Amino acid sequence: MLEGEPNLVARLSTVVALLTATFDSYFWTGFYLVDPDRPDQLVIGPYQGTLGCLRIAFGRGVCGAAAESGRTQIVPDVHAFPGHIACDSRSNSEIVVPVFGPDRALIGVLDVDSTAFGAFDAVDAAGLEAILAQVFGGRAAHLGASS
Ligand code: SME
Repeated sequence: MLEGEPNLVARLSTVVALLTATFDSYFWTGFYLVDPDRPDQLVIGPYQGTLGCLRIAFGRGVCGAAAESGRTQIVPDVHAFPGHIACDSRSNSEIVVPVFGPDRALIGVLDVDSTAFGAFDAVDAAGLEAILAQVFGGRAAHLGASS
């Protein structure tokens, strides 16, 4: 679907749209991207769902933990996660997957929230990590700030 399309926003938006259309349990699906002007912060990228927070500092909340550690975070109950940032109180569980470019530099994170508790497990992590590696980790995507 994305073959021949190098533009980063086009690739991010299409992944969000496909995931949201495929999984009924995805209440909020979107990217937070490393801000080139403030590399210690994530800034909101393409998303589908209710209004998202605009900025998240590295290390803060689930997204910040994923960005800082470079590891996927699975949170079965967000209310039990220290420092969780509640953009919409209807979210009860979430998964956040780091997104790396072809050079292994961190581009940002994919954040998926569900209104159900325990909606995500290791199967979701493996599937989302594989999709993100294929779409953003390959040489097909030209991932400069200008694309
Ligand atoms: N869940 C995130 C905040 C972003 S929103 O849920 C859209 C977090 O705690 O990192």
